Amino acid sequence: MAGFLTRWLRPGPTMTAEEAELEPGKLPRHVAIIMDGNGRWAGKRGLPRVAGHRAGVEALRDIVRACVDWGIAILTVYAFSTENWKRPQEEIEALMNLLVEYVRRELPELKEKGVQVRAIGRLEALPLAAREELARARRETAGNSRLILNVALNYGGRAELVDACRRVTGEVLAGKLRPEDIDEDVIKGALYTGDLPDPDLLIRPSGEMRLSNFLLWQLAYTELWFADIYWPDFRRENLRQALLAYQQRERRFGGLKI
Ligand code: FPP
Repeated sequence: MAGFLTRWLRPGPTMTAEEAELEPGKLPRHVAIIMDGNGRWAGKRGLPRVAGHRAGVEALRDIVRACVDWGIAILTVYAFSTENWKRPQEEIEALMNLLVEYVRRELPELKEKGVQVRAIGRLEALPLAAREELARARRETAGNSRLILNVALNYGGRAELVDACRRVTGEVLAGKLRPEDIDEDVIKGALYTGDLPDPDLLIRPSGEMRLSNFLLWQLAYTELWFADIYWPDFRRENLRQALLAYQQRERRFGGLKI
């Protein structure tokens, strides 16, 4: 037993982060990631931006595997924002094709590993092929519970709040809800992530330090972790560093240390 306990040591003055181990009881339940820096990664190599997105898919594969291995319950990744439609048509099409390709290629392994695939955002605006593949992935993995992989597509935090307001207003107009009964739980329940706990940890690589309209309601008390590498270079060791840093954080949710 002592041997087991000493394996889960925390980084401290005599131990580097590389030597420290993850503590299963202190891992975040829900990790959110802004997969940023694909374009810059490609630019640095003289490659087209799409090559960066393709390399970004490899990073995603590695991180999904790590989350399964380490018992993370939910992973939400930002793959396409409501603002990304402003990009050149060629890049948008390439991203949508990558999504279809990703689902087709990864679904067997995701199923085998017990991953449940979900998507959040205004999905109705996505191309038909993307919607069909997402629906298939959702249907075929609905019974899985090891990891929920939540892919944000045509997602915007403000759009999500608008959609939540519309849903709640619809309930009020239908006479199912009184305005005075609207509270934070009602709003939370009307979000795309209504049945999920808020992220415990948000990771943003690429050196940018902003939320970029991601999960605006849900991130209210989330721990933030930024990395100076581009998403295509992000691997399980980088995730491990983020999780080790998270283990050191003291979460008070506006209260006092107990
Ligand atoms: C941000 O980097 C990344 C995106 C807009 C797309 C993220 C998509 C993937 C990682 C691959 C596709 C996802 C799936 C689920 C198949 P950027 O292009 O804004 O990079 P930059 O800031 O360096 O230009």
